[in-house]
Amino acid sequence: MKSIKILGIETSCDETALAVVEASGDKSPRFRVLKNIIASQIDVHKEYGGVVPGLAKREHSRNLIPALYKVLELNNDKLQNLNAKSISNDKIQNIENILERYPDMLEEFKEKIIPLKKPDIDLIAVTYGPGLEPALWVGVNFARALSAIWDIPLIGVDHMEGHVAVNLLQHGNSKSETLNSKQIQNHKLQIQNKIQFPAVALAVSGGHTQLILVKDWMNYELLGETQDDAAGEAFDKVARMLDLPFPGGPYIEKLAKEGSADAFDFPRPMEKSMDYNFSFSGLKTAVRYTLDKMTKKEIRTQRANLAASFQEAVTDVLVNKTVKAATQYGAKTVMLAGGVAANQYLKNALGEKLEEKLPNTQYMVPEIKLATDNGVMIAIAGYLRYKNGETGDWKTLRADSNKLITE
Ligand code: KG4
Ligand code: ZN
Repeated sequence: MKSIKILGIETSCDETALAVVEASGDKSPRFRVLKNIIASQIDVHKEYGGVVPGLAKREHSRNLIPALYKVLELNNDKLQNLNAKSISNDKIQNIENILERYPDMLEEFKEKIIPLKKPDIDLIAVTYGPGLEPALWVGVNFARALSAIWDIPLIGVDHMEGHVAVNLLQHGNSKSETLNSKQIQNHKLQIQNKIQFPAVALAVSGGHTQLILVKDWMNYELLGETQDDAAGEAFDKVARMLDLPFPGGPYIEKLAKEGSADAFDFPRPMEKSMDYNFSFSGLKTAVRYTLDKMTKKEIRTQRANLAASFQEAVTDVLVNKTVKAATQYGAKTVMLAGGVAANQYLKNALGEKLEEKLPNTQYMVPEIKLATDNGVMIAIAGYLRYKNGETGDWKTLRADSNKLITE
């Protein structure tokens, strides 16, 4: 089976993430991660308590070329001694146009990329939306410049589709760490890496909370989404109220382990609504009001209980709506996706509920380090699009910050 190598590029938020993935096959594609590089900007945004788009753009433009060197295992020895004629003026002009908004990166590109030998890459896949507009554009333009200089096809990928598609990556024993053995037995987690359709995906990240009916790859229906804050955003905001660092999700999860989920009775917004939409802003406000009524000392002693009760409220809503959708649409597979899918408590709760209500449904969760933003997921989704006959090129690709998975 012929395999191809894909370079995946992700810059929609605060991670400059690049990966090289080898892929083969059509109906049951197989993937092998050859290299996965993530340059995180958390330290830059931390003091603002959230991601600042302009800073993200600046950091991506600084990080992309060094990250490319790492992901392609390049060093200065691979630079060719090009004489002026070996790269056409047209190509240089194209690169200058594509990167004109990033003068420093353009200079670095001329010095470090243009004189490189063309690498062993067959396809470039880049996130073009949804995400922070200036952050998306740097990645898209960088990918366009690489595609233009090396004549490699370029495919734009939906960020959320990437989160969902990373479930295709079989991850051997690592799943056994994330779910108990009974769940694994019942849901044949490792053994079955082929996704059976229709599938329902719960995509939960810092920017989005969506329930997606996956009829097949590239054939999606958005069943519902958050009406206000995303689930990850709620984790981050409540973490801030509890003086935890940014991004708060993992810190809430850790703190919650020492607390009781029954200690505070926080609301479960829209849990019983007839649709598949979500709302987390009211829950965040309920935590705020609770804190306002407590003394500093009480808060200190109750922090773990607050974290656990909040996490439980979010989990309840997510799990109940997902199982309801899976039942209504006869899902053969349920997939968890996005940064919040790194949350063990949510993973187990959804696994347990599925086991109880829909024991024949296959349940897939991403490996922890591939739940949050990465280039692997973009390479995988790019391959699916490529196999679907999609072609793209650097001349037409544009960022689209409000892109929907169904578009
Ligand atoms: O998908 P992602 O890496 O970036 C976006 O596309 O937004 O998701 C980041 C979000 C953040 O809000 C972060 O707090 C949350 O995922 N997150 C978690 C955990 N790990 C990351 N939330 C809860 N529990 C976790 N363990
Ligand atoms: Zn994401």
